Amino acid sequence: MGAAWRAEWNLGQPGIDEDHRNQYALVQKFINLPTDDIWRDDAGQMLKQLRDLTGAHCEREEKVMRAIRYPNLAEHQDQHKRLATMLEEMINQVEQENPLFPFAYVKERADRLLQFWFLEHFAKSDMLIKPYIARAMSRM
Ligand SMILES: [Fe+2]
Ligand SMILES: [Fe+2]
Repeated sequence: MGAAWRAEWNLGQPGIDEDHRNQYALVQKFINLPTDDIWRDDAGQMLKQLRDLTGAHCEREEKVMRAIRYPNLAEHQDQHKRLATMLEEMINQVEQENPLFPFAYVKERADRLLQFWFLEHFAKSDMLIKPYIARAMSRM
């Protein structure tokens, strides 16, 4: 993380690509937040923004996948559900202010999970739909 958006990450569907760029920027913004407790509210707001953006994005992505007859839609949808659960859990942990889980701990865990999510889901699963989008576009 920390690098600029790369052109090869674009899937060729403007709506999806814009969502991904916004998600990436927001994850970076979150990771760059300090771990002092005074940033807890900002962190919570950012995670909620990311959750909303991701919810709308996953719907959009699944709609495109249906339209281009992507064969692994069900499995991909399961991954989206797990991402949504993970984001809700993070938001709860940030908001709970449980003394057992200091903000620095919660934030560092969230940093790792968000990066893992970005690398794993986006780079491995979302990238798989790229050739299907290209094929669908060439038929239009
Ligand atoms: Fe995506
Ligand atoms: Fe996805």
